[in-house]
Amino acid sequence: MRMYDLISKKKQGAPLSETEIREMIAGYTEGSIPDYQMSAMAMAIYFQGMNREETAWLTHAMAHSGDTVDLSMFGTLTADKHSTGGVGDKTTLIVAPIVAACGLKVAKMSGRGLGHTGGTVDKLESIEGYRSSLSQAEFFRQVEEVGLAVIGQTGNLTPADKKLYALRDVTATVDSIPLIVSSIMSKKLAAGSQTIVLDVKAGSGAFMRDSESAGVLAREMVAIGKACGRKMAAFVTNMDVPLGNNIGNALEVVEAIGVLRGTVGGELRSLCLHLAATMISLGLSLDFEDALAKATACLEGGRAFEKFTQWIQAQGGRVDWVLNPSLFPTASSVYGVKANRAGYIGQMHTEQIGLCAGMLGAGRIRKEDPVDFAAGIVLEKKTGDWVEIGDVLAYLHTNQSGILPEAEKCFLAAIQIQDEKPEALPLIYERID
Ligand code: URA
Repeated sequence: MRMYDLISKKKQGAPLSETEIREMIAGYTEGSIPDYQMSAMAMAIYFQGMNREETAWLTHAMAHSGDTVDLSMFGTLTADKHSTGGVGDKTTLIVAPIVAACGLKVAKMSGRGLGHTGGTVDKLESIEGYRSSLSQAEFFRQVEEVGLAVIGQTGNLTPADKKLYALRDVTATVDSIPLIVSSIMSKKLAAGSQTIVLDVKAGSGAFMRDSESAGVLAREMVAIGKACGRKMAAFVTNMDVPLGNNIGNALEVVEAIGVLRGTVGGELRSLCLHLAATMISLGLSLDFEDALAKATACLEGGRAFEKFTQWIQAQGGRVDWVLNPSLFPTASSVYGVKANRAGYIGQMHTEQIGLCAGMLGAGRIRKEDPVDFAAGIVLEKKTGDWVEIGDVLAYLHTNQSGILPEAEKCFLAAIQIQDEKPEALPLIYERID
């Protein structure tokens, strides 16, 4: 196999065979295929696409490019979820303890925030003492005893994706459906869970700007997971507004604790219950309505919060902070951004709001940047709300007060205030089974 020939074949739109894809991924992982040839291939795939068989072979080859996690000791009870990333998305912090309290095993690897999106591991590390890296024995023991462990991506899992994702990031080839599908699904398959529920975000804060293309992505991922023997479902959900009101690591943990304790409701709670109920219905073979009743009872009866507390304690985090969230460190400056005219909040440019939170210190531009756990944004108004001149739209939290004028400008540019009430968008556009 010559990589030159494969690039040329794909450039002309011909499908690659299983062997060609397997050898290409093996060669790229071990280094015999250089980045410049793989970049050309990524661009050829970007323009010519891949059919479902090719995408499945690519996913399989990447899933097996390194170690895989064997969760067979937990039988069919293992369940995982994945969000394609957005702003204010703290669903894992709520969904994982609900499903674990209902009897499933959640052995989860999560990522860190990058660009405008947050990452679950950063959020968890805002709880002092939380260990996001456990030995394999500790990880399995905790899943067995607590039913739930969440760690960062470790070791030699999907090394092909690590290399290829970094390459796509700098060659403008991230937004290609077969490349996104194989990137996400290879990691999920390698992580070993039998049930996988996907939350594919659509809107101004997501990779996929419209619900139609998010639906195409979701359907591809569900088909490939099923072809690999996993129980799959996906939701296409609204990321035209941030999820919930808090954006930024510690702020999001505090909001998630609010949902678990019953003091925060709204769309965040509703989406979490849908995701949790879907994992429970697939994992325990229940009707969706029965699973939803079970998840709701778990949340309302306090068992999900109890499970969250056990989980954080098992991973070394400060349980006193969980029980009393006022102990989380707060930012030295909290500034209220005010409306400069009256009207309805129309479009919110959610990606820009995420970038604004990053500017305040909550995110990172490069992988090695530090994050400020206390920084972020608390939204007081969202799309569809009426505001008077001078009403506070949001509070900006930061430890770098010098950044506030620029951050305020950035936030105001992301919000449109208009005379007409905007049409309400659904929280869930579509469910795919
Ligand atoms: N998330 C991933 O893990 N991979 C992609 O390609 C896009 C989002």
